[in-house]
Amino acid sequence: MSTRDIKLAPSILAADFARLGEQVAEAERAGADRVHVDVMDGHFVPNLSMGPAIVQSLRRVTPLPLEVHLMVSDPDLLLDEFAAAGADSLLVHWEGNSNLHRTVQRIRALGKRAGVAINPATPAVVLEEIVRDLDLVLVMTVNPGFGHQPFLQTTLSKIGRVRELLERVGRPCDVEVDGGIDATTAPLVVRAGATVLVAGTAIFGEREGVTAAMIRLQMAIIHLDQELELAEQSVP
Ligand code: DX5
Ligand code: ZN
Repeated sequence: MSTRDIKLAPSILAADFARLGEQVAEAERAGADRVHVDVMDGHFVPNLSMGPAIVQSLRRVTPLPLEVHLMVSDPDLLLDEFAAAGADSLLVHWEGNSNLHRTVQRIRALGKRAGVAINPATPAVVLEEIVRDLDLVLVMTVNPGFGHQPFLQTTLSKIGRVRELLERVGRPCDVEVDGGIDATTAPLVVRAGATVLVAGTAIFGEREGVTAAMIRLQMAIIHLDQELELAEQSVP
């Protein structure tokens, strides 16, 4: 796979909500592939964020796929509403869901892409029996609940284990990473096997603006291609 296939998913959690449409449009012009919407219920994670109304408003202003990351205690109660609001993908957590298969089947029945997220302390192996039903695995590279947290290096080897699992079962799934992704950590996660990078602070929190921030991330990933080419050339 070439780094040209790597997708960027700006997380609007770090956006200026008073200028949300404008900021998403700028990210779109700068090459964003999808928009990541973080939903927090103040229970599954100790923070509150946004609900279906935001998805409905975004649906009117961007053609980009909208992926909804549900950090909530009972995602089943919200699937229909987010689907009706215009979500394209619904990502639910493995943690705390004793009926994950049912949740995933409901997402598929709604005609949406299904993703399962695993927290930093959750091993890749828990995905074994569910990956065949998924379009996306989300490896949390921070503990969910807040933006602007430092990337957890210990999650890098897990990205590789998720990739191996997907290859073994023959499921061509996105491997998405979320949390602490910036120009320094992006090459590390891509090298480890990630194909979709969520970034909040590194896109919407940069003083020089969204376009410059997107270019910086894209350059960090493209440099990796050059590194790989150089490494290949140096092999006798
Ligand atoms: C964390 C959220 C992330 C968050 C990432 O709970 O799931 O999507 O917005 O933010 P940064 O990129 O700032 O770490
Ligand atoms: Zn997220």
